[in-house]
Amino acid sequence: MALGIPFLFLTILSQISNFALSANEINGQGCTNLDERPAPLNYRNNVHQLSSLLLSDSSSSDPPTHSYFTTSVGEVSARAYGYYLCRGDLNGKDCQSCVETAHKSITNLDRNIGNDCFVSESNVKCLIPYANRSEFLGFGEEIGFSGGGYGDYLTSSSSQYNTTLSNSMQELLRDARYQNLTKANFATRVVMVEGSREKIYLLVQCRPDMPPINCSNCLSSIHDEMRIGRTTSGKVIGVNCLLKYSNESFFGGANNSFLPNFLSIIVVFVSSVCLVLV
Ligand SMILES: *[C@@H]1O[C@H](CO)[C@@H](O)[C@H](O)[C@H]1NC(C)=O
Ligand SMILES: *[C@@H]1O[C@H](CO)[C@@H](O)[C@H](O)[C@H]1NC(C)=O
Ligand SMILES: *[C@@H]1O[C@H](CO)[C@@H](O)[C@H](O)[C@H]1NC(C)=O
Ligand SMILES: *[C@@H]1O[C@H](CO)[C@@H](O)[C@H](O)[C@H]1NC(C)=O
Ligand SMILES: *[C@@H]1O[C@H](CO)[C@@H](O)[C@H](O)[C@H]1NC(C)=O
Repeated sequence: MALGIPFLFLTILSQISNFALSANEINGQGCTNLDERPAPLNYRNNVHQLSSLLLSDSSSSDPPTHSYFTTSVGEVSARAYGYYLCRGDLNGKDCQSCVETAHKSITNLDRNIGNDCFVSESNVKCLIPYANRSEFLGFGEEIGFSGGGYGDYLTSSSSQYNTTLSNSMQELLRDARYQNLTKANFATRVVMVEGSREKIYLLVQCRPDMPPINCSNCLSSIHDEMRIGRTTSGKVIGVNCLLKYSNESFFGGANNSFLPNFLSIIVVFVSSVCLVLV
């Protein structure tokens, strides 16, 4: 089930393009319930501990080898569930560095920890979702979160761009359905826009332990959030999958000027509607 994008999103998006970051943008956090009162202290402590465990897993070997790890911390009443996932094009060091940045963001959240949230950055190089219930992270759900960052949601230059984007994304969705993603449930694609020199870079990823049908459902669901026909780039993040596309190269294999330390933080927007669906 995909979500509508709150109108507020567009307003804040323009602020992001102007580099005017608010506290939440710096923290790169999105929650289902941003306006509620602080989560209980013991839960917040468990989230901090969870985040530390995730960080230590990401740096448990040298060179780092893990790109995904899920765990939970605490007593049942205040248990924190979560995972980290790095994008499939990241090497171990970049993954570790991204998880470290996300961990620092969580450390800085203090009273704004929130219940069903995640922390990311504008290129979605890695993701740390966390929640006070395991269902939030379940594979059966198909929840789409829309987010923007630098350069996202610029007006599409041509209908050829639109057509190429749409077709290529459909091909990636088909690959997911027919188990044609990598073992890490990850795929990228670079395509030429017909009749121009412009290229489109596309990336999809599911959690690596997700069965193909669930990965495919998850991607199809968040795909509905894509604003094809209007934009040259954008991204949608689900609890269990993500997609990103751009007319500028942004993933490792296609871009040698990959800069692991340039982490421009964004807010990922979450509609509280999804809570009803969970
Ligand atoms: C999670 O947090 C929300 C908001 O505080 C609360 O209503 C809910 O009962 C909590 N769920 C669990 C399983 O603790
Ligand atoms: C995968 O999706 C199917 C269909 O939506 C669902 O019935 C199943 O429980 C999901 N699998 C897991 C492991 O959650
Ligand atoms: C799997 O993906 C590769 C690369 O995109 C493509 O060449 C191939 O035709 C696909 N196979 C199937 C069965 O879709
Ligand atoms: C872009 O493509 C989508 C999907 O094919 C279509 O629904 C939409 O009308 C197109 N928009 C433009 C401006 O070409
Ligand atoms: C990407 O699209 C934007 C907006 O249409 C445009 O300004 C920019 O030059 C494009 N980048 C490339 C590499 O074509």
